[in-house]
Amino acid sequence: MSDVFPISGGDKIPAVGLGIWKIDPSDTAQVVRDAIEIGYRHIDAACDYGNEVEAGKGIQAAIEEGLVKREDLWVTSKLWNTYHRPEHVRPALEKSLADLGLDYLDLYHIHFPISLAYVAPEKRYPPGWFFEPDAENPAMKEDLVPIIDTWNAMIEQKTSGLVRNIGVCNFGVSLIRDLIASSSQKPSVLQIELHPYLTQQKLLRYCAEQDIHVTGFSPLGAQSYYSIGMAEQGEGVIDREETKSVAAEVGRTPAQVVMRWAIQRGTSIVPKTSKKDRLRENLALFDFELNEKQMENLTSMNQDRRFNDPGDFGEKAFNTFYPIYE
Ligand SMILES: NC(=O)c1ccc[n+]([C@@H]2O[C@H](COP(=O)([O-])OP(=O)(O)OC[C@H]3O[C@@H](n4cnc5c(N)ncnc54)[C@H](OP(=O)(O)O)[C@@H]3O)[C@@H](O)[C@H]2O)c1
Repeated sequence: MSDVFPISGGDKIPAVGLGIWKIDPSDTAQVVRDAIEIGYRHIDAACDYGNEVEAGKGIQAAIEEGLVKREDLWVTSKLWNTYHRPEHVRPALEKSLADLGLDYLDLYHIHFPISLAYVAPEKRYPPGWFFEPDAENPAMKEDLVPIIDTWNAMIEQKTSGLVRNIGVCNFGVSLIRDLIASSSQKPSVLQIELHPYLTQQKLLRYCAEQDIHVTGFSPLGAQSYYSIGMAEQGEGVIDREETKSVAAEVGRTPAQVVMRWAIQRGTSIVPKTSKKDRLRENLALFDFELNEKQMENLTSMNQDRRFNDPGDFGEKAFNTFYPIYE
């Protein structure tokens, strides 16, 4: 299979990118540079990850060393929840561009269908989830911005040429349908949590029918969530005997099998690692394949287990009950 997926509008998104959520800022420039040297062409960034300046340094280093040209890279960023008011979209985008040292993005997403009260960048950047983190009982502060207003502002950024493609993260069918019904452009890409414990088959089918490409985040499932208390030991899909047995059959690691399953379903992925050997491991997915039975074995593990759910973590970490999927 090819290492890129065509998306509506004509661009091609790399099948495997590097996600940089939770990469320590002090490591980010080196990891991004090394990833590009190893062959990564997609960097999945976000204002909220707090490491766009460092990611930009890594990209710059790779370009200056002649490892890659800007036009051969795919750089994604995401509009944070506090910038949903249309007048804040352009400045937020410009800040991410300046931090990344770029004059355009390949893809700009709305990060969550969650609109929070504006926090000026001079006051706090990235703004995080709390409105006033130093208050006695800090909480999230909602600002009910209609998502179509934010989406129309995203379309303007595409028209201006600052971004080549626009998309949304963590949206379900009803919200996407509403965007399509009420604007001139549909999202080119939807980024959602996807792994064998959360296969989201109906959402994928809907997106295929609408020609919306899907990128899976947290492709290794629980792996990303142990350290932040959002997964329990024993929830790891790469530790399952079934996964290990498929891995043994194809002579690959369980992580590679789970990621190959994802790209073989037609979804791109953005696995995160700070380790050089894993950067290589996570990109080495194109010289083997899973047969129908192996694909089915992985798909049948579905438990509709969502690790990244604002309806859970909002309350636990940010003192605010904020469900979006119910
Ligand atoms: N749009 C959204 O709302 C959203 C939400 C979550 C994530 N994302 C994006 O998706 C990216 C990926 O998701 P994620 O970071 O949550 O999860 P992930 O990539 O599935 O998993 C990352 C975790 O797995 C470990 N790991 C990486 N490669 C491995 C391998 N080959 N074998 C075993 N363990 C391995 C990493 O540790 P080491 O670093 O120690 O290797 C890290 O703890 C994020 O970085 C971010 O860019 C987007």
